Amino acid sequence: MSYSLETWCGDAKRILKEKPVNEARAALAESLKGLLVDPGFISTHFDEQKGEPQKIIYRDTELGFLVMVHHHKPGRKGPPHDHGDSWAIYGVSKGYTEMTEWRRQDDGSKPDYAEIQPDRTYRLDVGMTAAYGPKVIHNTHHPEGAWVVRVTGCDLDAIPRLRFTPERKEVKEFGRAAA
Ligand SMILES: [Fe+2]
Repeated sequence: MSYSLETWCGDAKRILKEKPVNEARAALAESLKGLLVDPGFISTHFDEQKGEPQKIIYRDTELGFLVMVHHHKPGRKGPPHDHGDSWAIYGVSKGYTEMTEWRRQDDGSKPDYAEIQPDRTYRLDVGMTAAYGPKVIHNTHHPEGAWVVRVTGCDLDAIPRLRFTPERKEVKEFGRAAA
């Protein structure tokens, strides 16, 4: 059975209205697995030839959640960052994501200063998803390139988020979308 973006978003709305956010996030991560590998979804929203780095494919005007697709080039590695107060779900349609979650060591009281340590690194392969609560520090690496779907609780460009430079023990607030 094919699973379209429209059907998934309708299910997502229902789940987000019915369940507490932590349970909803887990349920969305589970249901997204079916969409990621749907041939119709892939051919409609990803493009081998002219894949834009990132594209919004659905914005929910009622609940505010967003669905984006990312075409990551081989070797693409992003800096550690958080998504502020938004939750997020990542899923892979092609290739794989090497995800690292980081743990903050300092208390955040010194401006622009942060000590973070890698906590765990794991691989998201095709058809796999992972859900993240607010303020989780993470970075992604795509050694072989990947097609990724990312769902966020709101438009990240609208909220303050943090980007870290661990080797310099620096943190900066930023307002543009990062992978
Ligand atoms: Fe992210």
